[in-house]
Amino acid sequence: MSIRPIEEEAWELLEKSIIYYRGSPVGTIAARDPDIAALNYDQCFVRDFVSSALIFLVKGRADVVRNFLQITLKLQPKTVQLDCSKPSRGLMPASFKVELFNGQEYIKADFGDHAIGRVAPADACLWWIILLRAYVVATQDLDLAHRDDFQEGIRLILTLCLVTRFDMYPMVLVPDGASMIDRRMGLYGHPLDIQSLFYAALRASAELLIPNQENQQMIDAIHCRLVPLLKQIRENYWLDSDRLNVIYRFQVEEYGEEALNQFNIFSDSIPFYRLAKWVPEAGGYLAGNLGPSQMDCRFFAIGNLMAIISSLTNEEQSHKILNLIELRWGDLIGHMPMKLCYPALEDADWRIVTGCDPKNRPWSYHNGGSWPVLLWMLTAAARKMSRAELAHHAIAVAERRLLLDHWPEYYDGPDARLIGKESRRYQTWTVAGYLLAKELIANPDHLKLVNFEDEVI
Ligand code: GLC
Repeated sequence: MSIRPIEEEAWELLEKSIIYYRGSPVGTIAARDPDIAALNYDQCFVRDFVSSALIFLVKGRADVVRNFLQITLKLQPKTVQLDCSKPSRGLMPASFKVELFNGQEYIKADFGDHAIGRVAPADACLWWIILLRAYVVATQDLDLAHRDDFQEGIRLILTLCLVTRFDMYPMVLVPDGASMIDRRMGLYGHPLDIQSLFYAALRASAELLIPNQENQQMIDAIHCRLVPLLKQIRENYWLDSDRLNVIYRFQVEEYGEEALNQFNIFSDSIPFYRLAKWVPEAGGYLAGNLGPSQMDCRFFAIGNLMAIISSLTNEEQSHKILNLIELRWGDLIGHMPMKLCYPALEDADWRIVTGCDPKNRPWSYHNGGSWPVLLWMLTAAARKMSRAELAHHAIAVAERRLLLDHWPEYYDGPDARLIGKESRRYQTWTVAGYLLAKELIANPDHLKLVNFEDEVI
């Protein structure tokens, strides 16, 4: 039996994953595994669609992306909700599906109300803005973004993130499970994955909002937030050998504005000896979360890679993150690029933090599992920093398995050797992520869809 060329099969799968609404393509289905119950994988998830959308933009299929942006914008609640069971004004749904009723097609949105644990999709509205900007970059169709309904949509998302809040930090405050990691994983507060998307969405909004009276307050709010957010992440989330030395000897219980240990981190809460061994002299990364007496030192891939892509990290930090990936290849890449989070929570940590979640047992799924979709972010980050060899290497690793294994959603094990225990096959963002990585390698110009230059300070 001859094996089909990998890219040929990928294109065919991507085409088959397209969802149509009243005759028009509007998104892609999360997975098409014929052997497992669809559950909610028959929906179009906003975060999943971003990978498909970017490849569609690269390939001149901007119509699908335009339709998707319009459909999802219509699903965004536009009025203040007093009923707590209804989604808040400005939220974007986690996913939607097309349903038939009386022979007519309708769109049904899920704002987390159908998801396990009723988790809030805080990332969806951030990805939506990032995607709108990518659409504009690819098509030059600024008219769409400048339409009144789109300007309003952006303003409502920003209001949700920038205006009403309990917090006094520049980061955005979210509940646990509010992003791709949509189960309890100790990510309440200020998880890096969300902060990196938040930063990119703010940068994108600054480009997309028309400077007029209606938008002025929001534009000012963006500019007030960008620099403090950037400084906070670059300074206080950063971990490398120098920084570990500073934190190790932190004073605690300091009052006032001069406090060095702003978050009152207690040294004993940080696994210094493991980290001092693991973080190479030439490497570093952004911590997974930061809050009062909390510094989560796990490595999260989306937050770190999107920080490089959006220039949230400075040049030296971006290189150090890539150095870490290169020098800890066995831990972070292994047999499939790449780990969503490292290391896994084990034993008592797993019990307390995940609530004994069997799907997130150590080295599986979100808890130390490896997700091929991350290949495009890794490729984009490496490309941006002129480290294409790193991306080539990672793509070669992925190519050994993806086709044979039928495009799994994720892999398990410390070295990503096992196909995920409950992983779907024919997962669309695995397929799209691979195709996108190939395109980014073939033509670095496509990077402009997601890239932001370092210019805010
Ligand atoms: C899982 C993932 C989530 C993804 C969804 C559809 O729930 O955790 O991030 O959007 O599957 O693929």
